[in-house]
Amino acid sequence: MKKILLGAGIIFLASCNNDVNSVTEQQEETPTQQLTNRRSCPSDMMRDKILSTDPAARARVEAIEQFTEKHLNDIKVGKVLADGTVEIPVVFNVVYNTSSENVSDTRLQSQIDVLNRDYGGTNADNSNTPSEFVPVKAGDTKIRFRLAKTVRKQSSITVWNPDENKMKSATTGIAATSPDNYLNIWIVNNMSGGTLGYAYYPGTISASLDGVVIAAPYIGTGSGTSAPFNLGRTATHEVGHYLNLPHLWGSSNTGCQTDYSNDTPVSPGPNYGIPSYPLYRTCSGVSRSQIFMNYMDYVDDKVMVMFTTNQKQRMQAVVSASGPRSGLRVY
Ligand code: ARG
Ligand code: ZN
Ligand code: CA
Repeated sequence: MKKILLGAGIIFLASCNNDVNSVTEQQEETPTQQLTNRRSCPSDMMRDKILSTDPAARARVEAIEQFTEKHLNDIKVGKVLADGTVEIPVVFNVVYNTSSENVSDTRLQSQIDVLNRDYGGTNADNSNTPSEFVPVKAGDTKIRFRLAKTVRKQSSITVWNPDENKMKSATTGIAATSPDNYLNIWIVNNMSGGTLGYAYYPGTISASLDGVVIAAPYIGTGSGTSAPFNLGRTATHEVGHYLNLPHLWGSSNTGCQTDYSNDTPVSPGPNYGIPSYPLYRTCSGVSRSQIFMNYMDYVDDKVMVMFTTNQKQRMQAVVSASGPRSGLRVY
């Protein structure tokens, strides 16, 4: 922010004379010197003229001031850090049947830590990225996560059907907390079809159902988690969807569709387990080395280690001040 202000100051000085200086100079100068040294800055005069005659321009300028004030407040309250990093507040809603499914605070914090490492590009296994894909590695996505609140509730339901979203109802589960302003993550004991987790893309669902759901054995790391999905990467993957990242093969079952990132090779469908690099697969007659070590594939947790630059840009668009999830920046 300091840099932006400094930059604006330099532009201002370069284009217009500094008012305070010219006043002091004028007091000490002879009338002739005044004439030769005087600078004029017509910007304000022209601005005033426009604003006094053009109500639409006045409205635009007021909107810009409101936007600027809101942006500065985002920085002040700490949701947008000075370097532009957006810190997303997370609410965990734990809906458990047996006590072992009532995952501990330690497990939940370990999930926040995994998210912060994976989205910060500081995960140790990020260096497993093959050299072919190092040039497209995102590094720090400038998105971070902060645990805001944990809500717990016991339920007699033993298997949850993703489509029904019953875990998000106040009667059969836990209702979301301010879904426009918080990332709600529900943790449930068991999902039908062996689903590890699911998420809603921005713009697709009513606010009360928005967020991410993860089955209890796959949240966080350590005791109680279930290999090979025991490194917290299910949340990394689902939060990717929540921030508008499709699967590498596109949002369809046919495969070979676009994922809207031009730095991820086109893919005919998911990869599972532990593929060996290089893995060539074909779309429309063209064989390409697959970026299966990306978080948006279906490989084991220990295999997925990176986002790409394009994926980072897509996610930043979503949480930008005018993006579909800009509410995550506001208290
Ligand atoms: N929705 C996917 C599933 O339920 C998530 C896959 C995540 N992959 C992982 N290695 N954690 O299968
Ligand atoms: Zn997915
Ligand atoms: Ca692509």
